[in-house]
Amino acid sequence: MNELDFSGKQVLVIGGSSGIGNGIAQAFRAHGARVAVCGTRAGAADYSADDGSHLEGLDYTRLDVADATAVERFNPYFERLDVLVLAQGAVIYRRGEFEMAGFRKVMEVNLMSLMACASKFHPMLRETKGSVIIVSSTAAYHSTMGNPAYNASKTGAVGLTRTLGEAWADDGIRVNGIAPGLVDTKMTKVTTANPKRLEGALERIPLKRLGTPADMAGAALFLASPLASYIVGQTIVVDGGLIL
Ligand SMILES: NC(=O)c1ccc[n+]([C@@H]2O[C@H](COP(=O)([O-])OP(=O)(O)OC[C@H]3O[C@@H](n4cnc5c(N)ncnc54)[C@H](OP(=O)(O)O)[C@@H]3O)[C@@H](O)[C@H]2O)c1
Repeated sequence: MNELDFSGKQVLVIGGSSGIGNGIAQAFRAHGARVAVCGTRAGAADYSADDGSHLEGLDYTRLDVADATAVERFNPYFERLDVLVLAQGAVIYRRGEFEMAGFRKVMEVNLMSLMACASKFHPMLRETKGSVIIVSSTAAYHSTMGNPAYNASKTGAVGLTRTLGEAWADDGIRVNGIAPGLVDTKMTKVTTANPKRLEGALERIPLKRLGTPADMAGAALFLASPLASYIVGQTIVVDGGLIL
């Protein structure tokens, strides 16, 4: 038996249009699943590989999760759902999260929308005894001085993972999470595209390299598979040793 065979399974990756979510989406596809992804742009043609978007073989639909009504109205083409991955995320640099508008926006995208999306798909996941994977961050485990909303939202995401893990275990749904360290995506270009900052960052990572979306996908496949059948409410740190 191949526990990592997802043939016949339907996966939805919110935030699957680029970066980590996209890497996770493509990994589930490579393991046989049919995979739907959502992002903020109008259509798949609006994404390019330069931004870390590889949408071939994935079903793309636009969904702005900052818009609660849009989440409520979102009408998926599929009738069953086995794995829900919540990889959406936003950050505002240059002290924008110290303004309440910025703080609220990041909390909406990174935390409120997790609950909205998870609740929306709860009935479908109960039918399949499916799995939810919440992408938080190692930022949940230390201060990130310039980004109070990012930090609070990711800390909240780890707590939500625990709590939904306990609350939905009775439905046969396993809720778990991944906390990435520093992964090369469009979100982290501010660090990775600056040679000095990149050098400083690499120095602090025991494995001496950035994480890749594929590194994150390994943990996601494991958590959604029967190999993790007794794991509930946990967030796995996938950071090359960064926060050790
Ligand atoms: N990269 C890292 O080092 C790192 C570390 C720890 C945690 N994370 C987390 O990993 C997740 C993925 O981030 P990433 O690094 O892969 O960056 P990314 O490439 O920018 O991906 C972010 C994803 O979230 C989507 N998104 C953002 N705002 C949204 C909204 N309002 N509605 C719907 N979708 C929205 C984006 O859609 P568009 O493509 O349309 O923008 C994209 O698919 C985030 O939760 C992030 O916080 C990243």
